[in-house]
Amino acid sequence: MLKVAVMVSGGGTNLQAILDAIGSGKIRNAEVVRVISNSRKAFALERAARAGIPSVCITRSQYPEPEDFDRALLNALQESGADLVVLAGCLVVIPRIVVDAYPNRIINIHPALIPSFCGTGYYGLGVHEAALKRGVKVTGATVHFVDGGTDTGPIILQKAVEVLEGDTPEILQRRVMEQAEWVILPQAVDLIANGRVTVENGSVHISEENLEEEV
Ligand code: GRF
Repeated sequence: MLKVAVMVSGGGTNLQAILDAIGSGKIRNAEVVRVISNSRKAFALERAARAGIPSVCITRSQYPEPEDFDRALLNALQESGADLVVLAGCLVVIPRIVVDAYPNRIINIHPALIPSFCGTGYYGLGVHEAALKRGVKVTGATVHFVDGGTDTGPIILQKAVEVLEGDTPEILQRRVMEQAEWVILPQAVDLIANGRVTVENGSVHISEENLEEEV
């Protein structure tokens, strides 16, 4: 059973997609053991409470020294016993000591088709504003492993979403969440939980489902 810690900052719809997928059996052999938020106001904490999942709030304001925040985050993850860390609408830059402690075991959902509209400054609604400003006809979402950079780790899954006439950033964000983020993030957790994801030379390989094991 893969133990998953989910890091959140806001509404938690991606967290909810994971919880719903575990409940429906779309995600197999995984359980969410901890929710960690960097904001006390995150509705994601309410979602965790309703699901009976222990949560903890670790905010930079609690720790005058940045490295104390970094260590508190690492300690919380290690205490949870998590095998996989999922950044679900998480706006925290993951400290190097955490990335190093969980090599190819931290995944992030980005609301664009990396390498488009990603990197420093591209998060939340701003990603969709940039896509509309550029006039792209297709956008989407990406799940990738987290390495030392911003949105630079090996790509696991991507899903395209059509940009429609009259889209506002809010309408486009909602479509990308519904049609892409909430689909590929649970899918990535299931693939990892069932041993189907490997990383070789910076590229992700997804193996075929070994159905014999299902019996
Ligand atoms: C989503 O657009 C997500 O891609 C981005 O933050 C937004 C809210 O995510 N990272 P959630 O509802 O908190 O999961």
